[in-house]
Amino acid sequence: MAQLAAARGTADVVLIDIVEGLPQGKALDIAESAPWAGFSTSIVGTNDWAATAGSDVVVITSGVPRRPGMTREDLLGTNAGIVRSVVTNAVRHSPDCVLVIFANPMDAMCHVALEASGFAKERVIGQGGMLDSARYRTFIAMETGASVRDVAAWVLGGHTEATMVPIVSNASVGGVPLTQLVRPKPLAALVERTKRGGAEIVGLLKTGSAFIAPAVATLEMVDAILFDEQRILPCCTLLGGQWDVRNAYVGAPVLLGAGGVQKVYTPPLAEDEVAAIRAAGKAVRELVAATPKA
Ligand code: LAC
Repeated sequence: MAQLAAARGTADVVLIDIVEGLPQGKALDIAESAPWAGFSTSIVGTNDWAATAGSDVVVITSGVPRRPGMTREDLLGTNAGIVRSVVTNAVRHSPDCVLVIFANPMDAMCHVALEASGFAKERVIGQGGMLDSARYRTFIAMETGASVRDVAAWVLGGHTEATMVPIVSNASVGGVPLTQLVRPKPLAALVERTKRGGAEIVGLLKTGSAFIAPAVATLEMVDAILFDEQRILPCCTLLGGQWDVRNAYVGAPVLLGAGGVQKVYTPPLAEDEVAAIRAAGKAVRELVAATPKA
C-alpha cells in the first residue's frame, strides 16, 4: 500500500512499524524506485510516532494476518490490543486525522479504534466493502466476459465470511441487471466465492493474506478523503438506525470526502439482503462484546 500510495504521487507517506529497520528498509527501497518510476512524493520509514505528526489520513493495517484455516474472527484478541495501542499513538500525533481501519476482524476493530481515538464516528472508517466489492466485480467480469469497468456491484454488511452481503438486487453490468446476465447457479457460486475471497488468497499464498487488491481499495478511500472527492463508496461506518441497525459498524454506501463519512445512504434492497445486513450488525455487536478490554 505504501508503495502504491507513493507511486500515485497524491500523498507523502510515512511508514511505521515496531520492528526496527523494517519500515526504514521498505521506505528506502520504495524511495529508490522513484527516479525511474517518476514520482516525487516523499516516503520515509520510522519506528517513531513523532514522524507521523500532522497526518491527514492514518491507515491502520497493523495486527497479525490470517494463516490458512483461520477466520478473521480468530484474530480478535491479538489484534484488539495492537489496534488500541496504535490508534492511541496515531491520534496523539495527528489529532485531526481520519482513521481508515483495515486490521481484522475489521468491523470489530473499528469499534476499538472509535473508543481508543475518542473521535466522532465520521472520522473512523473501516475498509472492507471496497475490497470485497472489487472481488465481486472481478468475479462478475470473469463470469460474464464483460469488462470489469462496466460492472457496478457492491458488497455491504460485514467483512467476515459469515456477514458479507454481496448485493445482487441492484448489481448490473452496463445497466443490464446481473440476474439477466448470469443464471441462478453460477450467480450463487460467484456470490459464495466473493464471501470466501480473502480465504481463497490466504489458501494460495499460505504465508500471508492479500496485498495488492486491499491496498488499491484502501487508497481509493484515502484519495476520496484527501481531495474531498465526494465519492459514494461501500465503507464500514457506525450505523445509527439505518436498516434498523444501531451502534454497530457495518458496510453501507457512504458519501466520502473531507473529514471522512459525510452521509450514509440506504438504497432499496431485497428483503433477504436487508435481513443479512441486520444479521451483520448483530454479529458485530457480539464480537464487540467478546473483545478483550484494555
Ligand atoms: C482480505 C483480508 C485482508 O479480505 O481481510 O483479503
